[in-house]
Formats: sequence, structure tokens, C-alpha cells
Amino acid sequence: MVNEILKFSSEKQGVVANSALPVDREPEILSLRPQTFLEYIGQPKVVETLEIAIQAAKMREEPPEHVLLHGPPGLGKTTLAHIIANELGSNLTVTSGPALEKGGDLMGILTHLGEGDILFVDEIHRTPKTVEEFLYPAMEDFAVDFVFDKGIHARSHRFRLKQFVLVGATTRVGLLSAPLRDRFGIFRSLDFYSEDDLLNITKRSAALLDVTIDDESAHELAKRSRGTPRIVNRLLKRVRDYAQVRADGTISKKNVEAALGLEGVDHRGLTRLDRRFIKTIIKYYNGGPVGIEAIAATLQEETDTLVDVVEPFLLKTGLVVRTSSGRKASASAYKHLGYTVGRKFTSGDD
Ligand code: ADE
Repeated sequence: MVNEILKFSSEKQGVVANSALPVDREPEILSLRPQTFLEYIGQPKVVETLEIAIQAAKMREEPPEHVLLHGPPGLGKTTLAHIIANELGSNLTVTSGPALEKGGDLMGILTHLGEGDILFVDEIHRTPKTVEEFLYPAMEDFAVDFVFDKGIHARSHRFRLKQFVLVGATTRVGLLSAPLRDRFGIFRSLDFYSEDDLLNITKRSAALLDVTIDDESAHELAKRSRGTPRIVNRLLKRVRDYAQVRADGTISKKNVEAALGLEGVDHRGLTRLDRRFIKTIIKYYNGGPVGIEAIAATLQEETDTLVDVVEPFLLKTGLVVRTSSGRKASASAYKHLGYTVGRKFTSGDD
């Protein structure tokens, strides 16, 4: 049954992620994530590349090359890692760059991988340099070098690993060192989804959640989801709650508008933070150019959050432009916020 939220699966693909529960007794939360390439909507070129690599690897009876997936958050990098493992029938171990504090953390994981296992490292650009160096021989030669003792007594022992597949995900490929980047045989960037793809994802998710939604409402959700499946699924759940509590449970355009209004999501899908970002450039820096650090300081937000989460969609839609001297608000950004293009603000103006 699809609308059963908590179920126990005995044939779930092995996923190890800081979990103490044996995989076959882990409660499975209803997932909107596609499990196979066939179910996956959008990113056709990425999907085809991965399908070919997996099929070729199966034909040769050897693991595929390491895969690096790049793109803004919520576009499906983790989902694709799960699908790769699923399609290969392999175990998946999940970790992240910041979780690997010491070389030993990575060694512990690597030495427990089985033949053909997938190791997914999220935010791989945040792996400490000292840990990253252990990855090079692991990726290239499937070996790690243990060093015993120090100084003149230092001895090293090469420990063979099973042939695993590293799937790395990053929002900032520019922060990856060249030696690490070059060790991935497959490198693909995920782009924002089209409205049509998001519409189909909305319909698929609504069916899995067992909620009725008409075409107009699904279109509205797709239009307001910043090109991002994770956002469309999150907003769908908020609208489902709204429809259940404030209406008869059926999602209508009126419910979508009311629920998204409560979320602070406007008709183009911009959030409060998106609008504050643009407003800061316009009001405090006369439309730019202004450096990202200055915007972050004014907004009292982390620079990384602005660069990873906020900016990519604003750049993609042309609301913000990046120049060598900083970020600028475009004419459409002024119009979107209801300002005359090029308007100058003095302190105290609204
Ligand atoms: N749910 C989240 N992302 C999806 C995708 N790309 N295809 C289908 N369902 C999804």
C-alpha cells in the first residue's frame, strides 16, 4: 500500500549511514525518491550517461568508474547515488566530507567496503585536506597506506581494498582540488528542472502520498518550486496539510496560493531569503555591484548558504547578475519587488 507511512522492509537495499539498526529491521519512511532510472524524471543526459556506464560495467562484470555529481542542493545528487547502488544491486555506504574529520574516519569506512560497494560522500568539497590525501590511492589503486611509528622508525604498510565505487556530490566543484577531481571517470552537473519535469514529479509524488491534485494546482506548485524537486515535494506536503485542515483534503489552486502565502513563497517561487538578498543589493548597495561577503554581513547569513542555496536560482533566472566586481540586481529584480528600475534609496526609504 502506498499511503502506509511506516513499513518494514526485508528486501531493502543495504544502506549504512551511522545507523545502529540492522538494515532489514530499519523502519522505512515512505520515500518520494525514485528507486530506479525508469522512475526518475528529468536530467535526461545525466541519467543516460549513468545508465550506459552501469550497463557497460555489468557487461564487463566489473564496477563502473567513480562518479562526481555537481549541482545546487535538492536536485537529486543523493537520489542518483541510491539509484546507482540499486541498479548495480550493491550496498551503499553514506557519509559526508565534514563528517570525515581524521584519516582514521575514512580508513574505517574504506576497509569495511565490499567488492562493488558504493561509497557516497556528500559535500565532498568539504573533506579536510589531510583526509583527502587518503582518497587518492584508495580511488586509483584500491589501496590505503597505513603508517606506523614516526621519524626514522616510520614504516608503512599498504592495505588492499575491495574495488568500490566512489560517488561524490558537491555544490561547489571549483573548491575540489584538481587531483581529486581528476580521479573521477564520470563527472556530471545537474541543472534546475523544467516546469514540465516538476509538474510530472508533483503528480507522481501526489499519487504516492495518496492526495488528489488537479492540473492547475500541480502547475502552480511546479512554477513556484525554484526548479527543484526537493522544494516541490516539500511544498506539496505543506499544501496537503493545508487542504486537510482548512478544506476537504483535495488540493485546489486556492489552497496552493494560501499555503504558499503562509510559507512566504511568491508567484515566481522566491522565498523570503531570496527577496531579502535582492532587496539588500538594491536598497543598501544601489543595485550593485557588491561583494557576496558584504551581502552576507548585511543579511547576517552565512556566505556559504548564500552561494550554495540562494544565488544559483537567482543567477539562473537572471534576477541577479555576477560580474567581476560583484553581484548586481537586474531590471527584472527591481520590477519583481515593485521598484522602479534603477531607483536609488536613501536610509529610511522603503
Ligand atoms: N522525486 C524527487 N526527485 C525526483 C525525480 N527526479 N524524479 C521523480 N521523482 C522525484
